[in-house]
Amino acid sequence: MSKITAAITAVGGFVPETKLTNFDLEKMVDTNDEWIRTRTGISERRILREPGSATSDLGTPAVLDLLIKRGIDPLEIDCVICATVTPDMFFPSTANIISHKVGMSNAFGYDLSAACSGFLFALTTGASYIESGRYKKVVVIGADKMSSIIDYTERNNCIIFGDGAAAVLLEPSTDGYGVQDSILKSDGVGKDFLYIKGGGSLRPSTVETVLAKEHYMHQEGKTVFKYAVTGMADVSAELLERNNLTGEDIAWLVPHQANLRIIDATAKRVGMPIEKVMINIDRYGNTTAATIPLCLWDWQDKLNKGDNIVLAAFGGGFTWGATLIKWGF
Ligand code: UT7
Repeated sequence: MSKITAAITAVGGFVPETKLTNFDLEKMVDTNDEWIRTRTGISERRILREPGSATSDLGTPAVLDLLIKRGIDPLEIDCVICATVTPDMFFPSTANIISHKVGMSNAFGYDLSAACSGFLFALTTGASYIESGRYKKVVVIGADKMSSIIDYTERNNCIIFGDGAAAVLLEPSTDGYGVQDSILKSDGVGKDFLYIKGGGSLRPSTVETVLAKEHYMHQEGKTVFKYAVTGMADVSAELLERNNLTGEDIAWLVPHQANLRIIDATAKRVGMPIEKVMINIDRYGNTTAATIPLCLWDWQDKLNKGDNIVLAAFGGGFTWGATLIKWGF
């Protein structure tokens, strides 16, 4: 019997209509368009503004887009994994809420927390279910409503993040399409540089935690930058080496969209010209777990069956990794 691999057979995505531009931010904090563009590569990001809306309202249209494109019934889905650090609630999981909204009532689901590397961790997990032969249709979502954890009076972070979601469908392939290899890493040293302090079991929510702004995301940008720039480039190079590939064998590099300077460094390290790198940070900013699948969603019409694609991420935790896929449709 031939080996089963997990092919991506459809991609869906969703970004909210409301744009928050650099010029809007100039009116909110002490910043300017030129600084933001030259230091990060971002011009605008999307924000989910509707009152009462949450991460599941980003993930739900992304999954519906995917199911319509693939022409399948929600009841056919076996499993839903949602990578997010901004779940609707601590529990139930956002995967369950999305499954309910979409009608994927035969699926089991759960959330996976690995910050900006969440989609890669979830993709590798979902692929293992398919490779085992046990499940036939797994939906992997990357979704974050980052605007829900950002302090819009603090210029360091509010210029970076945006809201969005995208999802892929994994199905068995006996022709070798899909996830080929993954290197995933984490190191708790990162907990002091990128975190939300309040609201967990360490510092449950109180009036004091709210007044101290402990429910907002905190990032020591410079330190994270140093770890990210080597972490993402090293792991991508290691993945290519162990698969006996060079940049010339790769059709596309899909890096996490945190900072254009980190993206450039990763591309150089693996020998990929910038024309073969998916970049949408200028339009969406950093959408955490959604950046990589949003790139696949944006570029899907340019992808050819059999293309070798490297996905690479670095994020809170720290977490980082790279995944090699052979495009499946
Ligand atoms: O996705 C998860 C992983 N996250 C990342 O990979 C993000 C990694 N970090 C970064 O992308 C960058 O560190 C940032 C974009 C967050 C910051 O860029 P930076 O080049 O590291 O700037 P910095 O923090 O070193 O600040 C440089 C200067 C400072 O002024 P002085 O001290 O040199 O006078 C800041 O106060 O820029 C100032 N600054 C700003 N100026 C205008 C900081 N934020 C802003 C701002 N507008 N928004």
